[in-house]
Amino acid sequence: MTVHVVVLPDPAACGAAVADAVADAVTGAAGGPVNLGLATGSSPLPAYAELIRRHRRDGLSFRGARAFLLDEYLGLPRDHPQSYRQVIRRELTDHLDIDPAAVHAPDGTADDPAAAAARYERLLLDAGPIDVQILGIGRNGHVGFNEPGSPPGSTTRVVTLTGRTRADNARFFDRPQDVPHRVLTQGIGTIGRAAHLVLVATGPEKAPAVAAAVHGPVGSAVPASLLRDHPRCTVVLDPAAAAGLGPGRSGRMCGTGTPVRGYR
Ligand code: F6R
Repeated sequence: MTVHVVVLPDPAACGAAVADAVADAVTGAAGGPVNLGLATGSSPLPAYAELIRRHRRDGLSFRGARAFLLDEYLGLPRDHPQSYRQVIRRELTDHLDIDPAAVHAPDGTADDPAAAAARYERLLLDAGPIDVQILGIGRNGHVGFNEPGSPPGSTTRVVTLTGRTRADNARFFDRPQDVPHRVLTQGIGTIGRAAHLVLVATGPEKAPAVAAAVHGPVGSAVPASLLRDHPRCTVVLDPAAAAGLGPGRSGRMCGTGTPVRGYR
C-alpha cells in the first residue's frame, strides 16, 4: 500500500498542495524537459489558478515543459469551448509561458479514433514518463475516463461514457444531450507509468468514490483503486471528500494540514 492521503482544510489548500507537486517537478527537472500530466474537470481548477498565480507572482516558469492531457471528447470540433484541448488552454496553459505546441491532447476529431488513440499512446511512450500526473475522480470511481470495468493494463483507447458520467458532465454543456457519448482516454496502464500520481477530490459527492478507491477492494469495479498498486500516489482531499475514510485502515492517513511537498 503506497497511497498517501492528505486532508487539507478546503479546496484552495488542496489546490496549493497540488501546485506544490507540480512546482517541485518543474523546478526539480534535471536536464530534460518536465512532462506534466493534466486533468480537466472542476477538481484541478484551484491548482491551476494557483499555478497561474505563482507564474505571475513568483516567476514559476514552464518554458521547456511539455503537457499531456488525460482525455478528450470524441466528436466535438477542435474549437468547441468544452473540448478538453480548449478547456486546458482557457484554464491554464494560455496563462503560462509553456509553448502551446508542447501541449498535447488525444485527437477527438480524428476520422479513425482507434488510430488516434494508438498515436497518442505512442506520443506518450516517446516523450518518456510523465513526471507528475494530476487526476480527479468520478463519482463512479473513474480516473481519466476509465469507467468501471477498465482493465489495469489498459492503454489509450476509445471509451463509451456511462450515463452517470454524462449526467455529471452535463453541467458544462448547454443541453444534457450535447455531452458526447464517446471519449479518448489514457488507460490505467498509461496513467500508471507516471512517476507521481496526484489525485485531488473535494466535496461530499466524491466521498463514496474516494473511500472505495482508498479502502475498498482493488479492482476494475472502482478504477481509481487500481492506482493503489502505484509506487507513488498522493490523494489530496478536503474534509468533505475524506468523510468516508477512517484512520488506521489500509490507506495511510496523514493528519490534517500535512503538506504534499516532501512526500515520497
Ligand atoms: C477529466 C478527467 C475526469 C475527471 C472526473 C472528475 O480530464 O479525467 O476523470 O477528473 O470526471 O471531474 P470533476 O473534477 O469535474 O468532478
